[in-house]
Amino acid sequence: MPNTISGFSKLSKSEKIEWLLDTYFKDKASARTLVKQYWNTDKKLQKLHDEFIENTVTNFYLPLGVAPNFYVNQKLYTIPMAIEESSVVAAASKAAKFWLDRGGFKAEVIATEKIGQVHFTYSGDSKTLQSFFKTIKSKLISETKDITKNMERRGGGILDIELRDISSELDNYYQLHATFETLDAMGANFINSCLEQFAKTFKNEAKNHLKGEVDIVMSILSNYVPNCLVRAEVSCPIDDLKSKDISNPQLFATKFKQAINIAEIEPYRAVTHNKGIMNGIDAVVLATGNDFRAVEAGIHAYASRHGKYSSLTHCTIEDDIFKFWIEIPLALGTVGGLTTLHPLVKFSLEMLEKPSAKDLMQIVAVAGLAQNFAAVKSLTTTGIQEGHMKMHLMNILNQFEATTEEKKKLTEHFKTNTVTHSAVVEAIKNLRLTD
Ligand code: MEV
Repeated sequence: MPNTISGFSKLSKSEKIEWLLDTYFKDKASARTLVKQYWNTDKKLQKLHDEFIENTVTNFYLPLGVAPNFYVNQKLYTIPMAIEESSVVAAASKAAKFWLDRGGFKAEVIATEKIGQVHFTYSGDSKTLQSFFKTIKSKLISETKDITKNMERRGGGILDIELRDISSELDNYYQLHATFETLDAMGANFINSCLEQFAKTFKNEAKNHLKGEVDIVMSILSNYVPNCLVRAEVSCPIDDLKSKDISNPQLFATKFKQAINIAEIEPYRAVTHNKGIMNGIDAVVLATGNDFRAVEAGIHAYASRHGKYSSLTHCTIEDDIFKFWIEIPLALGTVGGLTTLHPLVKFSLEMLEKPSAKDLMQIVAVAGLAQNFAAVKSLTTTGIQEGHMKMHLMNILNQFEATTEEKKKLTEHFKTNTVTHSAVVEAIKNLRLTD
């Protein structure tokens, strides 16, 4: 096969780059310059980034923006957001400011339980397995002592282990379903180490007592954490919704609620609705060094928990009070992992005044709720293209290296003219001809 290579991981960074350039690039000099342009001049910092993953050749930047004025549980936050999509940070800031004047956000952590499973097969009698499990359950826990002692000292650890019989769905399939409290750590290593030890103990004990009928398939945490749950809410009297762009608050509230109800029952809309929520959530999760893939997977599973994909946010209008809330599972950490390694993660956490994992769950849920409020508010009033087109106009003007004066004139012109790529190019040309 062309372009295969063995021993790639053993090559030095420069050798890896040279192989890439030789194999895939026509203009090697430009590609080499580009790759090196993105290296950090501080060698120590670059080495740190090189070592986060394998086969690193350069860095891939994302902007880190901030959204100020988030008033959450009577405390003001400036929220860090790492994201490439324009308008997201602006929308979050706008929503934060809107609710700052209306009592802010209330958030609460409902539960913090994490989950891990040892998946195994067993071909013997189910009742025998149940009673065997009862006799060795305490040994399963005691043999993880070396792994759990630090976590237990801080107040966390293994909460419970259950034997689950799923053999009616898949032949011979059982689980040790374990729950954990990992406090301020995301806890992936802790949970996986405990699980692998459970599996070892279980297998050893089964050898003696179950005539080798147990076969361990795998031991791994679950990213579905419906009992690691946070809720964030905003509410105010309907009349208080009146603002610069909401002239009729009653109409706004009714239409807004209708949009949420549509996302509750209609999966096509729910996916886009929740995608907007994830714009806010992922950006904060990334900025604070957490695993956004785990968060995404867990949240979308939660959105489908009733058997149909649905909205993560909900809205009611009762006794003239508008209430809008989100409820999501979030397994986050504020110690360990990237949080102690990545300088910008440390910067983000310091900006958030060194939150506990529970604080961060609340902040992230609020970011998701704010993002959704901003999106649905735009969608049900002006439409989102107005804002997006302003950004689109700016991007085209920047491509053409428009001066401040040109930008001012053309922004004015496009207040009353439709923004399309060709219309903007035409307008720049005309302006440059006449000036
Ligand atoms: C775009 O990134 C997000 C939105 O589509 C979300 C939504 O439709 O609610 C604007």
